[in-house]
Amino acid sequence: MSDKTSAKNSENILIIDFGSQVTQLIARRVRESGVYSEVVPFNKAEEMMKAFDPSGIILSGGPASVMGADTPKAPEAVFSMGVPVLGICYGEQTMVAQLGGKVENADHREFGRAHIEIIDDCPLFEGVWKKGDKGEQVWMSHGDTVFAIPDGFRAVATSDNAPYAAIVDEARRFYAVQFHPEVVHTLRGAELLGNFTHKICGCSGDWTMAAFRETEIAKVREQVGTGRVICGLSGGVDSSVVAVLLHEAIGDQLTCVFVDTGVMRAGEAEEVVTLFQDHYNISLVHVDAADLFLDKLEGVSDPETKRKIIGATFIDVFEAEAKKVGGADFLAQGTLYPDVIESVSFSGGPSVTIKSHHNVGGLPDRMNMDLVEPLRELFKDEVRALGRELGLPESFVGRHPFPGPGLAIRIPGAVTREKVDILQKADLIYLDEIRKAGLYDEIWQAFAVLLPVQTVGVMGDERTYEFVCALRAVTSTDGMTADYYPYEHEFLGRVATRIINSVRGINRVVYDITSKPPGTIEWE
Ligand code: XMP
Repeated sequence: MSDKTSAKNSENILIIDFGSQVTQLIARRVRESGVYSEVVPFNKAEEMMKAFDPSGIILSGGPASVMGADTPKAPEAVFSMGVPVLGICYGEQTMVAQLGGKVENADHREFGRAHIEIIDDCPLFEGVWKKGDKGEQVWMSHGDTVFAIPDGFRAVATSDNAPYAAIVDEARRFYAVQFHPEVVHTLRGAELLGNFTHKICGCSGDWTMAAFRETEIAKVREQVGTGRVICGLSGGVDSSVVAVLLHEAIGDQLTCVFVDTGVMRAGEAEEVVTLFQDHYNISLVHVDAADLFLDKLEGVSDPETKRKIIGATFIDVFEAEAKKVGGADFLAQGTLYPDVIESVSFSGGPSVTIKSHHNVGGLPDRMNMDLVEPLRELFKDEVRALGRELGLPESFVGRHPFPGPGLAIRIPGAVTREKVDILQKADLIYLDEIRKAGLYDEIWQAFAVLLPVQTVGVMGDERTYEFVCALRAVTSTDGMTADYYPYEHEFLGRVATRIINSVRGINRVVYDITSKPPGTIEWE
């Protein structure tokens, strides 16, 4: 990956990761400043630096203490290769320790919002802060603090608990801050990072989605040549963007396969077929495999078993269709950058699998094809930007994520055709009301769940005994953590009334107010 990108992006920033929770945000902010960037774990940095030939280096924060016995360090070459370096939090501390300064345990740790005073001007602050500014809000998260700076450095900002909140050595172009400019609570942090990439590293900031589209198309053409590519379409953003980009690159060498699993949202299949086949004229195989999937799911209640059945059936169907169209040389996938970044782990032990999300992960191995992964270098919101650049309609680009196992994991207990039908109807109404209220884009994901519980109700003069529908809506930035969406009661009441009045089989609606953690977004 690195050699390809370094050839492509003459200007780029390498971010050396020491395990901070927010390292990816640094990459995103740098990219927002129009400069391509990649993240590499500190113990692989040396190798990567040679291939990547960075215009500048950023040392991330991290949970370690530089006073520990075997502490993570930046490769010495970082400080001798003559490019600008910016240390952030732990990155500042290791820079200071490695260059001869002193770091100690502070009496007062600082976590969260803090305020700094600017004691001197410097290129990092240009146009943002000037000498004498006070009370500038930043975000701190540190136990250790720099107490003595290496030769050549001077302090340019202080806070109550960090005498060296920002330091610079302009001759060597080394900069370091104790706070985190990459998080939004550092109100002018993005501008500081922009100063680093543009003014200090000299990057022009011309890495845009328009440029990415062009270079990626050229790369795909080079990789694929005259070969044939097959791409699974799910109706989601990632696979839609992959399909349109590939179609632009290689035209009818691309065949898309859309497998209707029978557990998709109402109208999903029609939307996909209309857009890709009719509008884009992409060669599309539409497989209606609903009966096959629903038969296999009959009587299955365990969530992981449902996922396995759907994953395995998907592979069988996809593979059979690939054979029918005469095979292909490449398989296109919507792998994103967060799946590619190697994480730095200090915890050691294996993590527990809560859910096996990657339900079609077996596809590439089984099909033994080379992969085309044009989104490997992008974050989710960059994929959306690329989708817009490619002219995909907003209804696809701004879509909420939808899980591979679909409605099967939104029907706790056994899945039946009747239940899928009920849930599709309720979900459609719920999303329609969300759109009408103008809330769709504020919400990360919203959907209805059909509970395996029947309750007594009264409609007209009749007693009813029907299912309960739970509504879920969360805000999130990456799906890893989430908060429930705080609807107005009036909105919830409207949705409940409409669902109960028009969906036979549901006589009660409840709203899920669980955040993640401790809950998960899906119910299974
Ligand atoms: P959870 O429920 O784990 O969901 O909080 C986090 C995100 O992942 C999606 N999700 C899945 N996506 N296959 C998928 O492709 C799955 O089996 C699966 N399970 C959860 C979920 O919709 C949310 O966006």
